[in-house]
Amino acid sequence: MASTPQLFDVVIVGSGAAGLTAALSLAPRFRVAVIAKAGLSEGSTAWAQGGIAAVLEEGDTFESHVEDTMIAGAGLNNRDTVEFVIGSAPGAIDRLVALGVPFNVEGNALHLTREGGHSHRRIVHVDDATGHAVQVALEAAAAAHPNITLIPDMVAIDLITSRHGERYSGDGHVWGIYAHNRRTRRVEAITGRATILATGGAGRAYLYSTAPRGATGDGIAMAWRAGCRISNMEMMQFHPTCLWNLEVKNFLITEAVRGEGGQLKLPPGVPNGGHRFMPDFDARAELAPRDIVARAIDHEIKRLGLDYVHLDISHMPADFVRGHFPTIHEKLLSLGIDMTKEPIPVVPAQHYTCGGILVDRDGRTDLPGLYAAGECTQSGLHGANRLASNSLLECFVYGEAAAAHITAHWDELPPVPPVRGWDESRVSDSDEEVIVQHNWREIRRFMWDYVGIVRTTKRLERAEHRIRLLRREVEDYYGNFRVTPDLIELRNLIEVADLIVRSALKRKESRGLHYTLDYPRALARAEDTVLLP
Ligand code: FAD
Ligand code: SIN
Repeated sequence: MASTPQLFDVVIVGSGAAGLTAALSLAPRFRVAVIAKAGLSEGSTAWAQGGIAAVLEEGDTFESHVEDTMIAGAGLNNRDTVEFVIGSAPGAIDRLVALGVPFNVEGNALHLTREGGHSHRRIVHVDDATGHAVQVALEAAAAAHPNITLIPDMVAIDLITSRHGERYSGDGHVWGIYAHNRRTRRVEAITGRATILATGGAGRAYLYSTAPRGATGDGIAMAWRAGCRISNMEMMQFHPTCLWNLEVKNFLITEAVRGEGGQLKLPPGVPNGGHRFMPDFDARAELAPRDIVARAIDHEIKRLGLDYVHLDISHMPADFVRGHFPTIHEKLLSLGIDMTKEPIPVVPAQHYTCGGILVDRDGRTDLPGLYAAGECTQSGLHGANRLASNSLLECFVYGEAAAAHITAHWDELPPVPPVRGWDESRVSDSDEEVIVQHNWREIRRFMWDYVGIVRTTKRLERAEHRIRLLRREVEDYYGNFRVTPDLIELRNLIEVADLIVRSALKRKESRGLHYTLDYPRALARAEDTVLLP
């Protein structure tokens, strides 16, 4: 028996910075559901370390922040979008201060730190755990609002489109989601006149990633299956400095460590051990944009057969290091590394998904009633490589923008029609759940090996071949067995892996984060990769 749909005004899938910002902005007028696939604070937002970029200090300018963003993005950014987001940043920071986010202050002003690619100090932060403070403040405000219903442990499977209505209508309108309730293990329909995807990135398509377990690109895959265009998926960002450790695989060492003087060095025991190598690659040394620093580290690791390189800030006073990076300092001490006295072993790891669902300035997608915001989108802000600390900013600006558009156009959104229940009559429980785990591991391994920092057409084609085989297996499995959270994610991982590889094969040049030995130069004209459904 299918359960009765839960009916809201707006359904928001995602409880990170983008989803909660949109919810708080809609709540004064509308009844809003905010869905999370696990706990509410288990997205990337709570893991953000460095901070949020905004022009707040005399001597800095919007033009300079725009230029830095365009330089990092290798010219692929949309200048109008960049100007819109950067111009909106001070207002977004004011709203977070009003919500009680305890940003670090210096005298009467917010303290600003520096990160790679920024020509000025402009990162507001809460020590080295900014995301946690932001998540706590947004979640507390949302939980206190009577119009917001927070629904954790609900894994969205697919969008409800007009074809799921009891009377078929072909306009493609989106009415909410079908989702697997982890607590009851049943599939429910959660409906609304408007739906916002704020589902975060797809980092877990890679073996090594700084992103949390749930970053499986679900929103991107759902939007693609429903008929949205997806853009620039080949622009996968690798953060230069993830901790190298045999037990802890995905702990980020914030870029602010380099911003505050940290240097990248070859480890001892190799020719020229201890050498600070970044000045050999770029005049901006450790503060070059991420793609350049990550590629330089990858080059040194492969050239010398290393497991890692060293990030060293031990030349700075110990109190300064402890004061600026209390969370990282403590975490490393628990692993036997004292960063005030010794270097930190680091490697690049997948960190951010620059591509995603194409959205306009109002967060609208290609489908009526469907909006998207945050890391699951391609808004034109990041281009071929995201500038550090522009991501949270994008979440706040587009969360607000989508909410503002829904509010202004509410009367044009048709009411939800009767929707069909989820049909489980032809499926049974799986007898070999282990296959799902094997396939997960396989995708993440070959994506790392063949679709990583340095690519070739041959490697991409190898990945394409494996995706084709796995897709057949997973579709078969999906068609015959009751859905589980792992199966839902696996199906989405295959979809996003395919989108990444197809986009990478389409780009016949190297630009920003997409570097291929077969086309090492950038073409004269920068163009987005757009995949049509
Ligand atoms: P997220 O915060 O990732 O939230 C995604 C939400 O979607 C979650 O609630 C999840 O449960 C939900 N969801 C996903 N799929 C489903 C589904 N199928 N069903 C139901 N719910 C679903 N950026 C910066 O600007 N500054 C930084 O300092 C910074 N540091 C970072 C450090 C780390 C370690 C990482 C990983 C990222 C960092 N970033 C930083 C990037 C930034 O944190 C993210 O891009 C941003 O938080 C994304 O927010 P979001 O709201 O789009 O998604
Ligand atoms: C970091 O703190 O290095 C991450 C910042 C970001 O991803 O924007």
